[in-house]
Amino acid sequence: MKSIVSFLDRYGPWALVTGASSGIGAEFARQLASEGFHLVLAARREDLLDALAAELSRRFGVQARVVVVDLSEEDAVDRLGRAVADLDIGLVVSNAGTGDPGHFLDQDHDEQLRLFRLNALSHLNVAHHFGGRLARRGGGGILLGGAMGAAHGIPFSANEAGAKALVQSLGESLHVELRRQGIRVMTYVVPPTDTAIIRKFGLDPELMPVKPMSTTQCVSETLRAFRANGKSSFLPGRMNRIMSAIIPAFVMRLMMGAMIERALANRSDQAA
Ligand SMILES: NC(=O)c1ccc[n+]([C@@H]2O[C@H](COP(=O)([O-])OP(=O)(O)OC[C@H]3O[C@@H](n4cnc5c(N)ncnc54)[C@H](OP(=O)(O)O)[C@@H]3O)[C@@H](O)[C@H]2O)c1
Repeated sequence: MKSIVSFLDRYGPWALVTGASSGIGAEFARQLASEGFHLVLAARREDLLDALAAELSRRFGVQARVVVVDLSEEDAVDRLGRAVADLDIGLVVSNAGTGDPGHFLDQDHDEQLRLFRLNALSHLNVAHHFGGRLARRGGGGILLGGAMGAAHGIPFSANEAGAKALVQSLGESLHVELRRQGIRVMTYVVPPTDTAIIRKFGLDPELMPVKPMSTTQCVSETLRAFRANGKSSFLPGRMNRIMSAIIPAFVMRLMMGAMIERALANRSDQAA
């Protein structure tokens, strides 16, 4: 109980979660609300955000504010910042993102740039805007959502991998740089996790080398690691950590590429 109170004391009273309308972000919002945080819920799908806000207030008695924002738009983080200028936010979970696998040269370049603004630049902008606010209030926390394997490259998901590699490196750098201002920064390196993204990629969880983990496990391990240790990044799942420690990067890259290429072929078979 003591550590729960001090976590809320240190990082509360408000937490911001981007990409809160589904999957891992919605789970972050639930777990933080269960510890007494008031929540800012940001994403595009207003109906899902409103339903989650009502659920959090009903179940946990906390306040929740919905901010509808498309984080692939250039001025999105400025607008998000203005919408929550009156709130004392001590914890920021920069989680929004998605993927659209395919053959790099066949992809529409404008769409690649839109995805890159979401998957990379929105995290940079969130870290800059809210990092400044946290520094002015004397400290806080920033969690940045990365992706397993991204740092080594993921064939057929090259744009997303590059974007998430930027996020990982950004987080590792800020972990050291912002510590002086009392801001703890950690990148949570998301492994295959059972959300809409798995289906969007066309992956069959039964055929994956490691079954996708639940959002509950992904988020609870991440929050435990954030609280407990001073690591710059954290990969949920013991088996994932073992795999990434012992499997050489080039093998991991080939395995992930083969898995996504198979999923793409299945998707086009189904579409035909
Ligand atoms: N699940 C996995 O296996 C996996 C693996 C590696 C990395 N990740 C990363 O984990 C994070 C969470 O994804 P998830 O697995 O929970 O998938 P998800 O259920 O699809 O959630 C993605 C969230 O991002 C939001 N989002 C997408 N585009 C947005 C935009 N343009 N502006 C604002 N918000 C946007 C979505 O909300 P709206 O659609 O309502 O805007 C949604 O809330 C993402 O950064 C993803 O890249 C996931």
